[in-house]
Amino acid sequence: MLPKSILVTGSSGLIGSEAVEHFDRQGHQVHGIDNNMRAVFFGDQGDTTWNLERLRRITSNFTHHNLDIRDRIALETLFRSHPFDLIIHCAAQPSHDKARDIPILDFEVNALGTVNLLEATRLHCPNAVFVFISTNKVYGDSPNELPLKELETRWEYARLEDYNGINENCRIDRSLHSLFGASKASADLMAQEYGRYFGMKVGIFRGGCLTGPSHSGVELHGFLSYLVKVAIAGRTYSVFGYKAKQVRDNIHSRDVVRAIEEFSANPRTGEVYNLGGGRENSISMLEAIAKVEQMTGKKMNWKYVDQNRIGDHICYISDLTKFKSHYPNWNITIGLDEIFRQIIVDHSNRLRSAGVSKPTPEWQCSLLYQRKNP
Ligand SMILES: NC(=O)c1ccc[n+]([C@@H]2O[C@H](COP(=O)([O-])OP(=O)(O)OC[C@H]3O[C@@H](n4cnc5c(N)ncnc54)[C@H](O)[C@@H]3O)[C@@H](O)[C@H]2O)c1
Repeated sequence: MLPKSILVTGSSGLIGSEAVEHFDRQGHQVHGIDNNMRAVFFGDQGDTTWNLERLRRITSNFTHHNLDIRDRIALETLFRSHPFDLIIHCAAQPSHDKARDIPILDFEVNALGTVNLLEATRLHCPNAVFVFISTNKVYGDSPNELPLKELETRWEYARLEDYNGINENCRIDRSLHSLFGASKASADLMAQEYGRYFGMKVGIFRGGCLTGPSHSGVELHGFLSYLVKVAIAGRTYSVFGYKAKQVRDNIHSRDVVRAIEEFSANPRTGEVYNLGGGRENSISMLEAIAKVEQMTGKKMNWKYVDQNRIGDHICYISDLTKFKSHYPNWNITIGLDEIFRQIIVDHSNRLRSAGVSKPTPEWQCSLLYQRKNP
């Protein structure tokens, strides 16, 4: 296979960094764009510098560009000098709740930034494959209209026909999105349009909960990463509404990148896919807390806030049928236990390298787990 020239935006983030690692390992020339804006959105806890440094240590063909995707002139210069074969667009303001405080910045990054990249691709490398990581929040709260039943630890779809979860026919308008959902829906529609109208090879992945050890988890974004971080630090986790039985499906960043790879090998024009962990990787808040307690051997401090996040999904499971039927080589390869294990081990290691010299009980628990499950 000839080496390709690949651009990854949001390359210091969860999905971007996984993509950089994956395609660098295969010998491709990988360019990353990231201006560490996650730290602007979420403060020090969201800082991704550690991940950029990690990438610099472990890659061989990676070039980092400290660019802002809102800067059209800078993008123009980059695209003019690099004819990319594949663009993986992961840079975003990723939080539902944060968008409320920064509506203009959220829209500029998510919607305008995406159009800047689509247009640069159209002008300079129209035959490239363009993958946009969208979100299940484009559906707003319409998934909540499905009839549900309450089980002991989770909400569940009441009808057998909904068992596989939400498919791409769910409507995206006339629902409550949050400003984040609306800015991502704008970008999602523009990406579809560049595929359908201009015939470009554009794929749109509407993510469920994307997760993995490279997340700089914060309260407002990165559910499992933040849950584990709080558990290991012995702090208190807040659960918002729905009796703590809300269900999320979780997909490891590696399985996301494998999906991108499959699409880029056989691209379609303006196709939309739901991409999450599916039913087998679904878990409720109560179940996630129980799992963290079981795996760390430590009781977790958490409190219940009797007010759900505005527009939050009650039970969201991505129906993966469409993607699997177009790309039968792809499947979920990393289950929930392994996802939890990796995040626990990684957070413990990060604590250690941050200079916590004496092992805390939390540490010992996770290291115990690490030893039992090498
Ligand atoms: N993590 C999830 O649960 C989830 C769920 C659904 C969809 N998504 C989508 O997947 C994509 C990747 O998410 P993630 O979890 O890797 O997010 P992330 O926050 O870990 O990574 C995004 C990266 O983009 C960078 N960035 C932000 N604004 C930028 C700008 N203006 N210019 C350059 N870089 C900028 C940030 O610094 C960050 O490193 C996003 O589009 C997000 O909306 C994520």
